[in-house]
Amino acid sequence: MSEGREKTWSGRFTQPTDPLMEQFSHSIQFDRRLFKADIEVNKAWAKALGRIGIYNGQELETVINALEEIDTEYHRGQLQIKTGDEDIHSANERWLTEKTGELGQRIHTGRSRNDQVVTDLRYYLRQEIDRIVDSIKALQGELIVVAENNIETVLPGYTHLRQAQPISLSHYTMAIFFQMQRDKVRLAEARKRVNVLGLGSGALAGAAFPVDRKFLAEQLGFEDISENSIDATSDRDFVFEVLSACSIIMVHLSRFCEDFIAWSSEAYGFVEIDQAFSTGSSMMPQKRNPDSLELIRGKSARVIGNQVKLLVLLKGLPHAYSRDLQEDKEPVFDTIDQTKMSLDIFKAVVQTMKINQEKMKGSLTQSLYATDLADYLVKGGIPFRNAHAIVGKIVSWIEQENKKFSELTLDEFKQYSPVFEKSVYQLFHPGYSLQLRNVRGGTGGASIRYQIKRAKKLLDK
Ligand code: ARG
Repeated sequence: MSEGREKTWSGRFTQPTDPLMEQFSHSIQFDRRLFKADIEVNKAWAKALGRIGIYNGQELETVINALEEIDTEYHRGQLQIKTGDEDIHSANERWLTEKTGELGQRIHTGRSRNDQVVTDLRYYLRQEIDRIVDSIKALQGELIVVAENNIETVLPGYTHLRQAQPISLSHYTMAIFFQMQRDKVRLAEARKRVNVLGLGSGALAGAAFPVDRKFLAEQLGFEDISENSIDATSDRDFVFEVLSACSIIMVHLSRFCEDFIAWSSEAYGFVEIDQAFSTGSSMMPQKRNPDSLELIRGKSARVIGNQVKLLVLLKGLPHAYSRDLQEDKEPVFDTIDQTKMSLDIFKAVVQTMKINQEKMKGSLTQSLYATDLADYLVKGGIPFRNAHAIVGKIVSWIEQENKKFSELTLDEFKQYSPVFEKSVYQLFHPGYSLQLRNVRGGTGGASIRYQIKRAKKLLDK
């Protein structure tokens, strides 16, 4: 049997924990990710205890120094985890006690792992949010570069995966930018609710020592202090918000990946994914697959799954802490890792992707100008619904005759409507179609330049 007697809580126990139960219940394999946060939270707590006389000045210094030593030694791999260490919080307390004896035994005064773990998690998440936001910003910067270089690059825009209207590649690229912008704002919003101090809540009823929570919040950089200890120790809605924001990021990325996967296929040939982000086939020598993008699409499922895991975990959980809450960690760590990596990979793919302007242009069919043709009639005084019907008839006829709009004679046009004049032929050029759409938010060059200007401002903020 293992070292059951050495556990932080083993006083009332006469028998050691079953080894299988230890294996089942221990979280240190994954919550060691909270090591650094736990050290910082311990330092702040020790200082707060110093202010209420649990440690005198000399003792506090010893404790702080020991915690710093633990930090260094842990990263050097000099500290061993023992079978009895349930989680990173118990391990840090053991190391501190081994270094400082009785002083380490005082560190948990007025505190529970319930308020400690939630504080660590908030501290950790705040940092990770900032790292994800940095990745989003880097991607946005790259998107602006692509947009600036491709205002004149025209490709067919699709709805229902059918050619719809010509668009500029910049316009498409800026769509990614603005979706990422909202993702960033969503994370910043979630961060406000993450950045709240839970420490001082005890197990559920609040610390029975007059710890200065304002001081603790300042020490740890929390902008707010939880108002209720049951709420603070039992809820994980702040985690849920971050996982939701990450799910949305991944769904956004996944859809753009899908576009690029299609565009890089033989059928489209619009873009070429760099070899560094493609893989081959073990069987078919000719293959070059866009696995980077497929993996982002696949990982979005994983991140969405993590969000659902957390919701299910909380549903029906009594107040306050139950051990179920330990299960929140792995989905959090996984979502953070996958989202960050997906953003970085997506950015690199965009950065290195070859854009085949000729292929894009070559795939434009004249059917893309059907809406412009109807609009032309509207400008000649025909109500849009009638104009739509007239152009519909022209489309139907030229489909039968296997002709293009530009191949119709003016007389043929006039058979459908007397409003048609020679000027109709200028419609059948992609550049012309784009310039019709300089409305704010449209795909016209001036509109795109305005989008880029706005985007740069948002990015500088
Ligand atoms: N490892 C636990 C967790 O992550 C720490 C809290 C344990 N608290 C308790 N009362 N058993 O949730």
